[in-house]
Amino acid sequence: MTDDLLVLKTETDAALAAAGDLRAWDAVRVAILGKNGRLTGLLKELGKTPPEQRRERGAALNQLKDALSGAIEARRTALEGAALDARLAAERLDPSLPPRPVPAGLIHPISRTMEEMTAIFGAMGFATAEGPDVEGDWNNFGALNIPAHHPARADHDTFYLPGLDGGTPRVLRTHTSPVQTRTMLTQPPPLRVIAPGRTYRADHDATHSPMFHQCEGLVIDRDITLGHLKGCLIDFLRAFFGIASLPVRFRASYFPFTEPSMEVDIGWNRKTGELGAGGDWLEILGSGMVHPRVLANCGIDPREWQGFAFGMGAERLTMLKYGIPDLRPFYESDIRWLRHYGFNPLAPAMLHEGV
Ligand code: DAH
Repeated sequence: MTDDLLVLKTETDAALAAAGDLRAWDAVRVAILGKNGRLTGLLKELGKTPPEQRRERGAALNQLKDALSGAIEARRTALEGAALDARLAAERLDPSLPPRPVPAGLIHPISRTMEEMTAIFGAMGFATAEGPDVEGDWNNFGALNIPAHHPARADHDTFYLPGLDGGTPRVLRTHTSPVQTRTMLTQPPPLRVIAPGRTYRADHDATHSPMFHQCEGLVIDRDITLGHLKGCLIDFLRAFFGIASLPVRFRASYFPFTEPSMEVDIGWNRKTGELGAGGDWLEILGSGMVHPRVLANCGIDPREWQGFAFGMGAERLTMLKYGIPDLRPFYESDIRWLRHYGFNPLAPAMLHEGV
């Protein structure tokens, strides 16, 4: 290629590289290939070239024309691609919601307590069992050694419901103990279950609600002793309240479904409400060795199996743990109360010492 053609090639390449958009590119294209373009001019002059040089010059010009046309087209493709990229970036739509302060729902303290009880007993190997809120009289009372006219019935302020097909009246379960009955009737021992759930009694004041929550526990195995009961409940109470040295006292008591029966107290300070110190005692739950008659009622041979049971009120445990003085707002759905006592559902779960 002669020098003038090389110069044209170099200058065209430089001009194309400098053309930053399609408008500048088009100006370069016209300046080279247009009617009055530089290459067009050279091609026109071919006729004036002496015949002996014309062939060579013609071939060189054609070669240059192909090279320049190719370079011009390539630049156009590149600029169009860049223009599309820029447009896509500029018109980009972000369909995700921007972060904004969403009023977070909070976990109700009772739900929190039920979850914690399930977690602590779960770590001890307890499965969770459930039963219905509307119970048969026998499941709620009879099987648990509380026959009709037994004085213990009077303590329960029972809500009665009409029986099915005119049969015995049904009840809103007055405790979670009927889940013991159901579990023993449907599963062979050994058993290790808790039953958290709703319970009902016709009672309403600052510390009683007609609907409240309990958690029942039942362990049936061979060679179960009072020592197992004590160890299990001491561990649970210390884990639940997060106080490794929480004093726990077992006091002889009476329940129809256990023999012997014990109420369990924890140490606290009556004046300040502080748990774990102060020399006063606070009753917190009921427990005992499952009465042989209850085992027999539920088809389990009391000569072969024995066990322990316990029951505790979730509201009471919650009020003590978090220093909540009145029970009634638990069920009023007052958002101010929930904001104060509720738990952030996204906060990491609490880890309990010793569990
Ligand atoms: N059911 C009893 C109540 O509601 C609590 C209770 C006491 C449950 C002793 C038990 C137990 O399983 O062994 O007051």
